[in-house]
Amino acid sequence: MNFGFTASQQQMRDAVRYFAENVVASFIPQMEAGEFPSALVRKMAEQQLMGITIPKTYGGTGRDFISYIIAIHELSKVSAAAGVILSVHTSVGTTPILSFGTEAQKQAYIPKLASGEWLGAFCLTEPSSGSDAGSLKTTARRDGNSYILNGSKLFITNGGAANTYIVFARAEGGITAFIAQKSTPGLMIGKDEKKMGLHGSKTVFITFEDMCIPLANRIGEEGDGFKIAMANLDGGRIGIAAQALGIADAAYQYAQAHHPNIQLADMAVSVEAARLLVYQAAFLRSAGQQCGKEASMAKLFASKAAVAAATECVRQIGRNGAAERYFRDAKVTEIYEGTSEIQRIVISKHLAKGMGI
Ligand code: CAA
Repeated sequence: MNFGFTASQQQMRDAVRYFAENVVASFIPQMEAGEFPSALVRKMAEQQLMGITIPKTYGGTGRDFISYIIAIHELSKVSAAAGVILSVHTSVGTTPILSFGTEAQKQAYIPKLASGEWLGAFCLTEPSSGSDAGSLKTTARRDGNSYILNGSKLFITNGGAANTYIVFARAEGGITAFIAQKSTPGLMIGKDEKKMGLHGSKTVFITFEDMCIPLANRIGEEGDGFKIAMANLDGGRIGIAAQALGIADAAYQYAQAHHPNIQLADMAVSVEAARLLVYQAAFLRSAGQQCGKEASMAKLFASKAAVAAATECVRQIGRNGAAERYFRDAKVTEIYEGTSEIQRIVISKHLAKGMGI
């Protein structure tokens, strides 16, 4: 099913698929060795993928959200690491500035992020607050026309490679969002996490020690931070759902190509159902409609489908070829950008408000 994709969306899908199969695939050995693929990010920028949803006035490609989800899906079929680099850069690394920033912030940061000259990251999770994001402890003390940030952030995707960091910290008026640059004194990048999967994606610990951020880099007002984080996670979760869909799709196709059998029918059904949920959420977001519930449904289901498909793929084929990579890459889609339990909470809150199915 093509979901009524426009000719331009189909053309873009074919181009990203070609790029993924012919260029992204050649970076897999390097990524599996644990290296962040900077050269691949440059090639993704040449393909105009890094600013895909950013309006042309800010140097982006000006495509719709559906096109972006198609791109994450296609990239993730070949490399889930490439998928998450783009997803975090776009959904939560760049969009908060576009949606909530001042014109001056947009002019200063978006064109470089959209061109791929800069990479974006998002600093919400802390050692003692992951799922309960509202209990974060990093502080932002107002000091004249600046804020002084102290605290630490955990599991920061693109951390170290990124030039800009959307940081959430507790100011007097509540959780507040800021833009920090890698070069800001007091921003210290820790060691790379040794992960089970997504070896090409960087994940680091970050510490802020008396990091001074100008007032001009505050996004919105004091106290707006939690809503800014949540609103951008709606889009982010569709991106991760598309990444999970890519892994599920790839595991299914791999198993089907190596060992077609009747048990793959269940896998095919859940991949197809995941596809419907992911693109339903993407269509809503693209149309500017509320999609929090649908985003969480898509992420909850697609991540489960990815784990199930990758598990079945390994069960049937063993650890040969890409099968074990799908297996290692799939699990985190049930954990980051809100665990499956968090998605259930979000869905239940929407259902309780009468936003039924
Ligand atoms: N859009 C806008 N506003 C929203 C919103 C949304 N989607 N969701 C909630 N809000 C608002 C609510 O309206 C509410 O506003 P009021 O106070 O004015 O009524 C406020 O935010 C608080 O909302 P809740 O009462 O729902 O908040 P909560 O504390 O009960 O919990 C939660 C919310 C869903 C559990 C939340 O803490 C959450 O999503 N946790 C998971 C965090 C997460 O996903 N982290 C991912 C880190 S990023 C990452 O993983 C990137 C990566 O590396 C790949």
